[in-house]
This record gives sequence, C-alpha cells and structure tokens, in this order.
Amino acid sequence: MNACIRAVVRAAATHELEVLGVRRGYCGLVHDDLIPLGPRDVGNIIQRGGTVLGSSRCAEFKTDEGQAAAAATLRARAIDGLVVCGGDGTFRGALALGGRWPGAVVGVPASIDNDIHGTDTTIGFDTAVNTALEAIDRIRDTAEAQGRIFLVEVMGRGSGAIALEVALAGGAVAALVPEARNDLSSLLDFLRGPAAQSRQSSIIVVAEGDEGGGAFAVARALEPEVDAPLRVAVLGHIQRGGAPTAASRVLATRFGVAAVEALVEGAGNVMVGVQGGTIVHTPLAEARTRTDEHLAETAALVLRLAR
Ligand code: F6P
Repeated sequence: MNACIRAVVRAAATHELEVLGVRRGYCGLVHDDLIPLGPRDVGNIIQRGGTVLGSSRCAEFKTDEGQAAAAATLRARAIDGLVVCGGDGTFRGALALGGRWPGAVVGVPASIDNDIHGTDTTIGFDTAVNTALEAIDRIRDTAEAQGRIFLVEVMGRGSGAIALEVALAGGAVAALVPEARNDLSSLLDFLRGPAAQSRQSSIIVVAEGDEGGGAFAVARALEPEVDAPLRVAVLGHIQRGGAPTAASRVLATRFGVAAVEALVEGAGNVMVGVQGGTIVHTPLAEARTRTDEHLAETAALVLRLAR
C-alpha cells in the first residue's frame, strides 16, 4: 500500500494537484486526521510493508453520525477526489459517502486474499504468497529430514487463493480451501497409498477458512488414520507484513497512477483494476468480494498431481 500512496502523491504532483493523506483509514476522515503529502514525503517508503498512513476497522464510520462527520471533513477541506485502498468493506464505506459529499471516489483493490471482483490481482497478494511459499520451503526441509506429514495453515478466511497458489508453487500434495468440500477420503487414500509410502514427506496446505475448521482440526481428523508423524504450522499474520515483492510494488504503483488519472478524467465511483495486463475500471458498486469457481478445480488438480 505504501507503493500506492507514493504513486498517488507523485502522479498528482505531475498534475499540480494537492494531496492530503488520511491517517487510520475512515477513522482519520471522521476525526479530521489528515496530513499534507508532497512528493518528498513519500520517499523511502516503496520498500516498506503495511501503510505509513495506518489503517483501521473504524466502528464509528459505520454509524450515520460517523459518516456525516467524515463527509463534513471532506467538505471542510474542499477535497475534490478521494482514493481509497482496500477491499469490499472499504469500497462500501466510500459509496456511503457518495450522497453526502459532491467529490469523486476511486477505489484501489488491496487484499492479500485476491478476492475482489473486477481485477485479476490485488495489492499484497503476491507478497503474501511469496512469504508463505518461503515458509513452506523451509518447513519442507524439516519435513523431509524427519519423514513427516505437515499441515501448513495459510490465511484466507473466505478465499483459497493464497492456499492454492502456494500449494502449486510449493509442490504440496493437497490444498483444502473454502471454495471446495474437503475430500479427506481421497487425501487419505493418497496418504496411505504406495505413492505416499515412497515419499519422504508430504505438505498439505490448509486455508484458515477451509471446511474442516483450519489445520489443527484437519490434523485431528487425519492423525488416527495415518502412520507417519503429523505436524501443524500456522503461518498467520506474518503473511500480511514485510517488504513487498517487486510484483506487488509495480501493481500498486500502476494502480496509484491509474487512480489519479481516473480522477483527473472525471471518472468517479470506480475501482481501478488490472485484467489481462490492462488497467480497467469497474463501478465501485460492483467491486464486491468474489468467489472464484475455478479455485475448486485447482484444489482437485493439486491432489491429482500428488504422486
Ligand atoms: O485480509 C484478509 C485476511 O487476511 C483474511 O485472509 C483473514 O482471514 C483475515 O484477513 C484476518 O483478519 P484479522 O487480522 O482481523 O484476524
């Protein structure tokens, strides 16, 4: 998100626009916590994880009074355009401001879950995937040395996107994701079959929102049925921090520039996204959380490739 903030500020400067950064998300709008941002203020942040402006799940903004206060800040500051960076909830918040303030809003999709309709990918997804993948490669070393089955839980309460990406890239034998029923009987057939017996280790990736209730619950279900020692590793929030990958930085930069261009061109209430490499606009009202049908097929593919 820092790469996006940097790109917004610098692209705006090329149009001689003034930029204010809103701290702590919508809480900053409710409480008029805004800071001027010039091109030099956003130097040396492109390589940093998180956001220098802070973020929040702002309960106050969900109330009528909170939204009125946020709109009052926008009017008092004479703000013409607002760039919001986040997911479904962030965009719904921006739409709620619509009737209360005459300016234009542009959304930028940022979610490690890559589950936003209107874009092929989201800020942070590639970084989260590579962070989880590095951890899995490390876990594989000990799994291999000790002859173990490892269940690795990755983030994704409603989305198996991270789990499937790392399962494919990390050579896992299975991925259990919210988009598909857990096929534990096929998994057990594999784990008890000749292919698994000839393997030294097996990695099973579990999204936190899988049908079984996470990696520990799945491990409890599998443990009595398999001979090999079983271990669980929950990667958790380490996937949401750290230096962003080149792909995440470039994507965030393209989105930040596109958001400013959209505002300059007078496009309001849209989300910028990327489809097939091209920047596209989706009406903000349609930029909802999506469920990818093909993810269930990918989960089946992971198990099919296990040999
Ligand atoms: O950003 C999305 C996400 O990372 C989900 O994958 C995860 O379930 C959730 O956020 C965790 O949220 P929290 O940090 O509030 O527990």
